[in-house]
Amino acid sequence: MSTDQPTILVIFGISGDLAGRYLLPAISAISKAKMLPKKFHIVGVTRNLDKAYLKKHLDKKTEMLEMDLGKASEYEKLKKIILSARKKFKSELDPQILFYLSVPPNASEKIVEMLGKSGLSKIKNAKLLLEKPFGSDLSSAEHLVRHIEEYFAEEQIYRIDHYLAKEAAQNIIVFRNGNSLFKKTWNSNFIESIDILASEKIGIEGRAKFYEQTGALRDYVQSHLLQLAALILMDLPDQCGMDAVPALRLKALKGLKIACGDGGSKCVKRGQYAGYRSDAGNPKSTVETFVSIQLKSSDPKWKGVPITVATGKAMAERFTEIRIRYKKTKEQEANELIFRLQPNPGIEFSVFAKKPGYERELSEHTLHFNFNEHYTKLPEAYEQVLWSAINSDHSLFTGSAEVLESWRIVDIIQRAWKGKSADLTIYKKGSKI
Ligand code: BG6
Repeated sequence: MSTDQPTILVIFGISGDLAGRYLLPAISAISKAKMLPKKFHIVGVTRNLDKAYLKKHLDKKTEMLEMDLGKASEYEKLKKIILSARKKFKSELDPQILFYLSVPPNASEKIVEMLGKSGLSKIKNAKLLLEKPFGSDLSSAEHLVRHIEEYFAEEQIYRIDHYLAKEAAQNIIVFRNGNSLFKKTWNSNFIESIDILASEKIGIEGRAKFYEQTGALRDYVQSHLLQLAALILMDLPDQCGMDAVPALRLKALKGLKIACGDGGSKCVKRGQYAGYRSDAGNPKSTVETFVSIQLKSSDPKWKGVPITVATGKAMAERFTEIRIRYKKTKEQEANELIFRLQPNPGIEFSVFAKKPGYERELSEHTLHFNFNEHYTKLPEAYEQVLWSAINSDHSLFTGSAEVLESWRIVDIIQRAWKGKSADLTIYKKGSKI
């Protein structure tokens, strides 16, 4: 059920790449599906009003505000706009205000502070939506968490990891819970290994500045891949339902360790695609575009199960999948369950059957379920993100403790890499993950 609470969505950075590519199309898709609150108003904030851009991307109803984001008086203007929109709603229900920060990470700290100092963060039903990355290491993430906490309470904050909102990622918990065959075998007695792989065909696509400051480890592993690992390893929610999910993911993240403790090259491999340095405009760059990490879990349920997470850019194919390999025994073959997140989201399961003929031979076959064969349109991740935030559902968002926990793991690797790059291998574009 969606809420009918009147809603004002304030998008900081409305003329940016993310808003144009994902947010605005997501809003129009939710609107077409008639799932937006009836009283819904968008305020777009930008540093430079580009009329041509606006004409192309925005409908006339969006109210625009050009703002100097560091100036207190500008937030007074924003407050006036919000108050007048609230009045126009003429509703008995108190409206909610969503502040969506679709801005570079170095800009969000200031905006949060100004929203706090202007009193906007304390307006009734105010929410804050934040894009990753949350910091660049454990200590900067801790600083960011404390800074934001000065102005917004945790329940007002929605930290976005769009991977959690992908339909096939949401399906992981539901599938595990709904199928007793897998529910009962989801542990080290039956499972041999877990591989979480994200292979991208694209390179850095003009994002040189961003990528030079992040690299695959911070861009992908700290957020998307560790969150997927948490969805696989976590205990299932009981009758408390989906509200309990962030806490369960957190518990799973707490149990995750790098398999060889110190983050050394035995367990962590890094690489850079040939040509990256010229794409990045830095002939000496040692930034990794590929990383693969061996992990383990201290949860007794996962004792001895190797967990690999790996991602790379400029690879041969584009796919994200999670491979759960079952144990082979004397009597049984090793089945494999694959969650495919993209492309063609779905599930595959390999089974063994008798090969027709006089002998008793086995052959391997695949059972598959593909979302696109059964459903005409899957909601995009950003549609789910916006809809969930509008409806106050935190289950698809990462809590501050989860963010810090994943930095704990990544920090060990960053420390091991500091000042060294001898283990960085250069790989050809089009390599396999
Ligand atoms: C983003 C990363 O979070 O996710 C990008 O910053 C990456 O580097 C992108 O390309 C991948 O998202 P998707 O949904 O296209 O797999």
